[in-house]
Amino acid sequence: MMVANGKGLLAMDESNPTCNKRFAQWGIPQNEETRRAYRELIVTTPGLGQSISGAILYDETIRQKKKDGTLIVKSLIDAQIIPGIKVDTGAKDMAGHAGEKVTEGLDGLRDRLAEYFQMGARFAKWRAVIALGDGIPSRGCIEANANALARYAALCQEAGLVPVIEPEVLMDGAHTMERCCEVTEEVLRTVFNELYSQRVMLEGLILKPNMVLPGLTCARQETVDEVAEATVKCLLRAVPAAVPGIAFLSGGQSGELASARLNAMNVRFKSQLPWALAFSFARAIQQPALEIWHGKQANVSSAQQALQHRAQCNRAARRGEYNAAMEMDNREIALYDVSSV
Ligand code: 13P
Repeated sequence: MMVANGKGLLAMDESNPTCNKRFAQWGIPQNEETRRAYRELIVTTPGLGQSISGAILYDETIRQKKKDGTLIVKSLIDAQIIPGIKVDTGAKDMAGHAGEKVTEGLDGLRDRLAEYFQMGARFAKWRAVIALGDGIPSRGCIEANANALARYAALCQEAGLVPVIEPEVLMDGAHTMERCCEVTEEVLRTVFNELYSQRVMLEGLILKPNMVLPGLTCARQETVDEVAEATVKCLLRAVPAAVPGIAFLSGGQSGELASARLNAMNVRFKSQLPWALAFSFARAIQQPALEIWHGKQANVSSAQQALQHRAQCNRAARRGEYNAAMEMDNREIALYDVSSV
């Protein structure tokens, strides 16, 4: 269900510090009420369930209510969107490994998963972060993160939750696309070895990887088609065919590029692939909506239109039907609406 019918996931599980950081960029007050209001805006977007199969929440949000007193989770379920929950407790500096992080959150996880299931969550997410640089990533970092992902995934399946497994190789740096490909392949192979050791059922998980991309400051920036080809080639080498779906993170790409790259993969390779190629974007779906909203009630409807637009673009990208003209049509609507509020 998470990757059926051309739909994908909406990541709206920014931790409080991350959400506050995004709000701060636009001068939006950073408190529990503004975070609640923003999440209400997202889940009440008309028609969101046409393109979004599941939404990933943060602990604060899964407990929050809309202004009218109904739980945000209920609003999602009513819109036929499956509630999910971020369950890691963040990437922390790794001892003995300067510049590298290991994700924490295994202690007490069994009990937390049981509570989230009871609150309506049916899938979970855990993000590991792999940085590229001089001499990194180390084997120690890759192995520690892969082991934690696999232990998390086993606990999720025991609790009846689908684990979304997110090993993110970061875009930051001047590395080439080839280097990103090499590291992504090594990380994914290590993750799947660990999943096998921990007896995780491959049919019952979603992989959430990065696309294979050149570093943000690399002089050579490959074309959309080159990125699509490198990404699919890397995944074919490392991801078993039993996995039902791959839902990419956006990682700081613009919304338009993320859609164009996902679209190119589906146009060129969809008919030959064992798994669905979908999306689980946060920034690449939310960014324009957040900018338009700006913390103001009067902008809610325009922001929801922008959110719905990005969600629909990604639904089209899953089908290989996205094109640049979709962006032009929306730009006119968005400009008109913003000036009229
Ligand atoms: P981005 O799409 O903004 O990378 O976020 C995805 C996510 O869920 C990060 O954990």
